[in-house]
Amino acid sequence: MVFPDYRPRRLRRNEAFRTLIRETHLVPGQLILPLFVLPGKNIREEVPSMPGVFRISVDQLAKEAKECLSLGINSVLLFGLPEKKDGMGSGAHAKNGIIQQAIKELKNRAPQLMVVTDVCLCEYTDHGHCGCIINNEVDNDATLEILAKTALSHAQAGADMVAPSDMMDGRVAEIRGVLDENNFDTVPIMSYAVKYASSFYGPFRDAADCSPQFGDRRSYQMDPANSREALREATLDVDEGADILMVKPALAYLDIIAKLKEEFDLPIAAYHVSGEYAMIKAAAQKGWLDEERVMQETLLSLRRGGADIIITYFAKDMARLLNK
Ligand code: PBG
Repeated sequence: MVFPDYRPRRLRRNEAFRTLIRETHLVPGQLILPLFVLPGKNIREEVPSMPGVFRISVDQLAKEAKECLSLGINSVLLFGLPEKKDGMGSGAHAKNGIIQQAIKELKNRAPQLMVVTDVCLCEYTDHGHCGCIINNEVDNDATLEILAKTALSHAQAGADMVAPSDMMDGRVAEIRGVLDENNFDTVPIMSYAVKYASSFYGPFRDAADCSPQFGDRRSYQMDPANSREALREATLDVDEGADILMVKPALAYLDIIAKLKEEFDLPIAAYHVSGEYAMIKAAAQKGWLDEERVMQETLLSLRRGGADIIITYFAKDMARLLNK
């Protein structure tokens, strides 16, 4: 059937028709809000390059958690800023480290909220790399043990799910093994399976104070030019025991999200990262874009592209809009 017999506009005539045939939806329960936690009391400081995003102290978490739950957001992703850093990132698995405190506080005060933790060393190392340095290189195998220890300490503190973001080879298997040995076989791994060496992480590195002090992350994070390599990375993580596969960043990598969705039957998460958030905020502040609509269109495109789960700093704003 072709024009004039067929007229696609018939089904776009009003909002009722449009709603009727809408293929993709955003749901607050599939959004994850990242939170930055720092030592101290009564702290709530805005990240300059991420308007509307705050670094908060542990005592502020309960309030944040209740707000999320009331909006239908069931999950948060925790990032920590430790009191002090060292060469091995030992603050990442300290028994009473910042994340361990944050997990306990959240599980005490808002047990229904799902606490996901970022497992990485870059916020905890004085050199800012995601692993420990041996002979001037980020040493893969020596880092694995520290990452597994970190994931275990999160599980022991009560984390519901761990999310390794370091991009070391073999870390999913190592973490799965250590969790299982310690009776945490019910704790899933959401693996940053396909994480690119991206400049879109700029604002995050301000927020989490984790810029590498020398070099960059290109010896472990993926080259933005590569797509087939994404399939290899994801296959490895599936074989090593990942429960959810993440692609990061999101918007510039929609093709990768779509590819993973097609090739794998695990849930796919997309991380709409700090730089993607900051671009929308900045343009909106200048009056160049309608923030609300661009936010919605962007996040919807991630779902359309294949993401089941979206990690975004817009989670609360988006949920508010959806709840209207
Ligand atoms: C590091 C980590 C990064 C992000 C999440 N985990 C930064 C990096 O790899 O440099 C970026 C998130 C964002 O930009 O919002 N472990």
